[in-house]
Amino acid sequence: MSTSKSTNVHWHEGNLTREERWGSMGTRGGTLWFTGLSASGKSTIASALEQVLVQRGVPSYRLDGDNIRHGLNKNLGFSAEDRAENIRRIGEVAKLFADGGSVALTSFISPYRADRDQCRALHAEAGLPFIEVFVDAPIEVCEERDPKGLYKKARAGEIRGFTGIDDPYEAPTKPELVLKTGEHSLEQCVDACIEAIEKQLGVRVPAVTG
Ligand code: ADX
Repeated sequence: MSTSKSTNVHWHEGNLTREERWGSMGTRGGTLWFTGLSASGKSTIASALEQVLVQRGVPSYRLDGDNIRHGLNKNLGFSAEDRAENIRRIGEVAKLFADGGSVALTSFISPYRADRDQCRALHAEAGLPFIEVFVDAPIEVCEERDPKGLYKKARAGEIRGFTGIDDPYEAPTKPELVLKTGEHSLEQCVDACIEAIEKQLGVRVPAVTG
């Protein structure tokens, strides 16, 4: 779905530059792309990070796989094609949030390298920073956690094509950040993300006051 179905459409430039927008907000935008197996900890880290950022005055918005599949992407399943379309749309939405001056936090399994690379390229073309965060927990750990009971169902054959069981997960080859959630605490993972946001996005994340 990389080609456009619409014809006779024309890009309408706005009256503001990105610098003017970001300057008026006193911040900079970008995307942290969390990828990893189900129950690896993507959503937990993204939620905690979003809270810290917003509490410290940094605009941030979380796009979560399960949540987005309740609305925008409710018409998509888990075939390779649907997962690709899921990720393509979220790459576009994250780009808009980042352009708007937010730190977009996406937590999707995003199992295919090519789909993630497309999102990275989309950001690069738009001059927006993209940090791929590999939430790296062994399948045994994820299966042991199994907060939604889905691994159990997949093992019992009640869910077909479950990532890590009978569907592939292609780990990132050059992620900007790796979080080993089986070894490090939630706080350590959030701190590592904040460091990456400061260094790679150039966003100052003020220390908590009061
Ligand atoms: S992705 O592969 O397209 O990136 P996404 O992150 O949106 O997946 O959704 C994954 C979530 O959907 C999982 O955390 C799990 O709760 C649920 N889910 C339901 N069926 C599957 C499946 N077959 N494979 C993986 N996750 C599934």
